[in-house]
Amino acid sequence: MKLAVVGGGSTYTPELVDGFARLRDTLPIEELVLVDPAADRLELVGGLARRIFAKQGHPGAVRTTSDVDAGVADADAVLLQLRVGGQAAREQDETWPLECGCVGQETTGAGGLAKALRTVPVVLDIAERVRRTNPDAWIIDFTNPVGIVTRALLGAGHKAVGLCNVAIGFQRKFAKLLGVEPARVHLDHVGLNHLTWERGVRLGGPDGEDVLPRLIGEHGDAIAEDLHMPRALLDRLGVVPSYYLRYYYQHDEVVRELRTRPSRAAQVAQMERELLEMYGDPALDEKPELLAKRGGAFYSEAAVDLAASLLAAGGSPHQVVNTYNNGTLPFLPDDAVIEVQAAVDGRGARPLPVPRLDPLQAGLIAHVTAYEDLALQAALHGGRERVFTALLAHPLVGQYEYAERLTDQLIAHNREHLAWA
Ligand code: G6P
Ligand code: MN
Repeated sequence: MKLAVVGGGSTYTPELVDGFARLRDTLPIEELVLVDPAADRLELVGGLARRIFAKQGHPGAVRTTSDVDAGVADADAVLLQLRVGGQAAREQDETWPLECGCVGQETTGAGGLAKALRTVPVVLDIAERVRRTNPDAWIIDFTNPVGIVTRALLGAGHKAVGLCNVAIGFQRKFAKLLGVEPARVHLDHVGLNHLTWERGVRLGGPDGEDVLPRLIGEHGDAIAEDLHMPRALLDRLGVVPSYYLRYYYQHDEVVRELRTRPSRAAQVAQMERELLEMYGDPALDEKPELLAKRGGAFYSEAAVDLAASLLAAGGSPHQVVNTYNNGTLPFLPDDAVIEVQAAVDGRGARPLPVPRLDPLQAGLIAHVTAYEDLALQAALHGGRERVFTALLAHPLVGQYEYAERLTDQLIAHNREHLAWA
C-alpha cells in the first residue's frame, strides 16, 4: 500500500508517522511519501520519520519530494494536510477580524473564509493530479476548513472524505473518565466540521446505553473546564458542544481575550521553530513531548482508522467523518457536507441516521451551512461581491457595515493568494 501526505513537511507529521508505526497491523503501509514545497522542512521531517519507522521496526519506506505529481503517483490514498500561506497567513486570519469586534480564528468567521478562499483552488488542483494518476485513490482531507474543502472535493467528483480530530478527542477523553476502552465509546456526534455537539455517549455501539447524563453529572466540571465554558451552560444544553462553539456562545468574551494575548499562530510559529530544531537532531527517534501542545492530538489514529476502512477493511465500522448529508439532516440540502457518525468501508462513508435535532442546534447548523455554500461559491469563482455575500451570511458577522469592511480587509491581506484579486 502506498500513502502520500501532501503537506508532509508539517511539524505535525511525526504524530502521523508515530501512528502509522504503532498501528502498522491495521494499516500495512509499504511506501509513505511526504510531499511538500518546503524542501528544508521536508528534509528534517523526513529524516525523523525514517528514524521513527526504524526504531519501531516498521518495514515501510519513507520518501520525500517537492513534486506533487511524482509524490502522489499511484498512491492508494492521499492525505491532505496543507496550509496555504503557512502560519503567517493564519496570523492575519486571526488578527484583522478583531478590528470589527469579530472573532479572529483560522476556521471560524471571517478568518475561516479567508482560509477557504486561499485553500480550495490549491486543493482542487492537487486532487485533479491524484485522479489523473489513480482514479481509484482515496483523498482524506484534514485541510481546513474541512467542511468547505470537502464540499469542494465532492462537488468536483473526487473520492474524498473529510476528517477532524475533535470527535476522537472526545471519545478518548470520555473513555478515560468512564474507565473503559476508547473503542467501546460511540459518540452521537452531529453538526458541521468545527460546529458539533455530542448528544449521546453510548457504550458498545450505536444502540448501547447512553451514559452522557451520568458523564455530565459526575464529570461536568472537568468537561466544562476543558472547554473553557461555564458548567451551567453545559447543564442547560444537556449536550457537550465542541470547543469551537465558544466562538458562538461566548463570542464577545473570546474577542476580549484574543485582543489581549499573542495570536495562536504566533504561539504555534514559536513551537514550530523549536520542533524543527529538535527534528534536526539525528539522535531523536520518537515524536517529542512538545508536539502534544498542538491541537492535533489523536489525528494519526483517526487517519489510520479511516484509511484502514477505506483501503484495507481493517478499521472501525463506524467513524465520525465529513461527507454529503444526503437527507440525514432533513433541513439541509443533500449536497451539504455534515460531520456525523458514518458507516465506512471500501465504498466510502454513509451517514448513520440522526434523530430529530433540537432547534437550538438545527438553527445554527442551517445558518452556517448557508454560509459554507456561499463561501464555496466565493472560493470557486472569486469576486468581491461573493466574498461580501458570504460574510453577510455568517452568523458571526451578519451586519452590512462589518461585511463591507471585512471584505476589504480579507482581500487586502490575501491578494497574493487570490488569483482574481
Ligand atoms: C484541532 C482542529 C484542527 C486544527 C488544530 C489547530 O486539532 O481539529 O482542525 O487544525 O486544532 O491546532 P494548532 O495547534 O495549530 O492550533
Ligand atoms: Mn479540525
